Amino acid sequence: MRLEGKVAIVTGGAGGIGRAITRVFTREGAKVLFVDISDENGHALEREIADAGGTAKFLNADISKQEAAEAIRDAAVAAFGRIDVLVNNAHASRQAPLLEHTQEMFDISFGTGFYPTVHLMQACYPQLKESQGSIVNFASSSGLEGMPTQASYAAAKEAIRGVSRVAANEWAADGIRVNVLCPFAATEGVVAWQKAFPERAAASIAKVPLQRIGDPETDIAPVALFLASDDSKYMTGQTLMADGGSLKLR
Ligand SMILES: NC(=O)c1ccc[n+]([C@@H]2O[C@H](COP(=O)([O-])OP(=O)(O)OC[C@H]3O[C@@H](n4cnc5c(N)ncnc54)[C@H](O)[C@@H]3O)[C@@H](O)[C@H]2O)c1
Repeated sequence: MRLEGKVAIVTGGAGGIGRAITRVFTREGAKVLFVDISDENGHALEREIADAGGTAKFLNADISKQEAAEAIRDAAVAAFGRIDVLVNNAHASRQAPLLEHTQEMFDISFGTGFYPTVHLMQACYPQLKESQGSIVNFASSSGLEGMPTQASYAAAKEAIRGVSRVAANEWAADGIRVNVLCPFAATEGVVAWQKAFPERAAASIAKVPLQRIGDPETDIAPVALFLASDDSKYMTGQTLMADGGSLKLR
């Protein structure tokens, strides 16, 4: 098991890609403190993992509140005694053309994506230094490609990539690795979008060289596992695309 004896924090860990990561990490031996605002999904996943013989604890916390970062770190330490892996996965956003983008839209995207990522990295730094840990942050091809209607989301995602590279450089000597994952996966939101706009969805899948949308559990979570585990111990400051080959970084 690749994460035997390790403790991980996963934000947005009760739904979509976060839920897949929580499942896969616990199967690989990690104890996971997963954070979400959905009580129903959180408790259901906690039961599911306990029934499967894994160890995960659900914490209902809204990561957009600044005080949440230290509360999340303290909850992980209180439950499991250490922190080896931090996965900053949750991120909410609104779409609109740039000319119609409001301050509120930027606040939502930076307030749920960029700032919680930074605050959790800062809050967990002492524990990650002690464990020689790994941080996995989430970005998006929306940012890398500048996807129309995604101004606030794209900006926050590129800000996450920027701060991840700074932390990778500053914290390498402390033994902390920081990498970024850009997924494309059939989460609940993406499936609803596929149903609502089948033609747009088909056009977008046609552009994926591997010709399908990824599965959160079998296509995305294993890449997060790779970045979290010692298998990637010589990698830091990198962005990995798990998007069926759509975007090739040089
Ligand atoms: N799904 C994709 O194809 C795709 C593409 C590019 C990037 N991403 C990125 O991957 C990550 C996961 O995406 P997803 O599709 O699984 O998202 P999702 O919306 O399906 O799930 C996000 C989870 O985060 C939780 N959450 C939302 N706001 C929260 C808050 N304030 N505090 C705590 N929890 C909160 C939600 O309840 C949900 O369980 C995100 O960073 C997203 O931007 C996803």
